Amino acid sequence: MNRVAVVTGATSGIGFAVTELLLKEKINVIALSRDMDKANQTKEKLKDYINDVNLDFVIGDLSDNEQTNQTGENIAKLIKDKYKGKLDILMNIAGRVTTGYHENADGNEMTFAVNHLSVFILTYHLTPFLIKSDDPRVLVVSSLSHYRASINWNNIQNKKMYNILKAYKRSKLYNVFFVKEYARRFEMISTFAIDPGLVRTNIGAKNTTGIAKLAWKLRSSSGTDIYYPARYMIDVATKEEYKLCSGDYIKKGKSVKSNPITYNADHGRRLWEYTEELTHISFNNQ
Ligand SMILES: NC(=O)c1ccc[n+]([C@@H]2O[C@H](COP(=O)([O-])OP(=O)(O)OC[C@H]3O[C@@H](n4cnc5c(N)ncnc54)[C@H](OP(=O)(O)O)[C@@H]3O)[C@@H](O)[C@H]2O)c1
Repeated sequence: MNRVAVVTGATSGIGFAVTELLLKEKINVIALSRDMDKANQTKEKLKDYINDVNLDFVIGDLSDNEQTNQTGENIAKLIKDKYKGKLDILMNIAGRVTTGYHENADGNEMTFAVNHLSVFILTYHLTPFLIKSDDPRVLVVSSLSHYRASINWNNIQNKKMYNILKAYKRSKLYNVFFVKEYARRFEMISTFAIDPGLVRTNIGAKNTTGIAKLAWKLRSSSGTDIYYPARYMIDVATKEEYKLCSGDYIKKGKSVKSNPITYNADHGRRLWEYTEELTHISFNNQ
């Protein structure tokens, strides 16, 4: 049977390009979309690549615990029904940038919830299926901006003095901590944080206003196209040599040093435990 991948953020930007390239590699894709129209439009754009490989959409939102759990359960059901309970690749790509402080239904800050908590919850739901693969891989899209982030245990979610850039870069720092801690806990699953570089997408124009929106439009115009990071993400998800660098931060297809604080395993464990409390999830109970 062809391999199977789950892709979040598949309806636009980097996630769309990754979905296309996975299908071209004859890897079945379970893609996540927030709404049916976007799913149908994406499927239409990719129709030439789905003759002998499957592209299924699950409709779901990653904004809060309940919706993300529901999304995880729906994806899990599809994997059980269609792929005998086995998953080979998980691409955590969905993300957002947010002007102003917004809380979700759980009282968590929105950027933190979508960029960090949803990765934790979704990966929790899919780990039992990844373990059944003979070569499981998990990728989480982080960002160059994580190098400029710090950790403040009294303000993890940026609830005090919210700032758009600080919230975003911290969420991307937490992605790197998550990858390193997950790789420590699940040695049999090859796990990577991806730095896609600056990419021409709409991410900075979707949930932003004013100067932030304008600045993103100007800045992103000098970025690469969406296929540039997607190509090496496919390599990381499929090529043998990457199995040697699980837990690493990958930039332009190469393993490079991440922010020095991400090597502090105490921070990684503490963030993991804080995330368990917020999500009411323990990977130990699987
Ligand atoms: N572009 C860059 O220069 C850059 C640089 C560093 C890192 N990144 C990271 O790359 C990843 C992909 O971003 P992109 O640049 O490709 O932007 P994008 O085109 O806006 O893609 C983001 C994707 O996430 C989805 N998404 C957002 N909130 C969601 C939610 N609550 N539930 C479900 N899905 C949700 C979006 O769905 P909709 O289509 O419905 O909006 C979209 O498909 C992000 O994690 C971002 O932080 C991007």
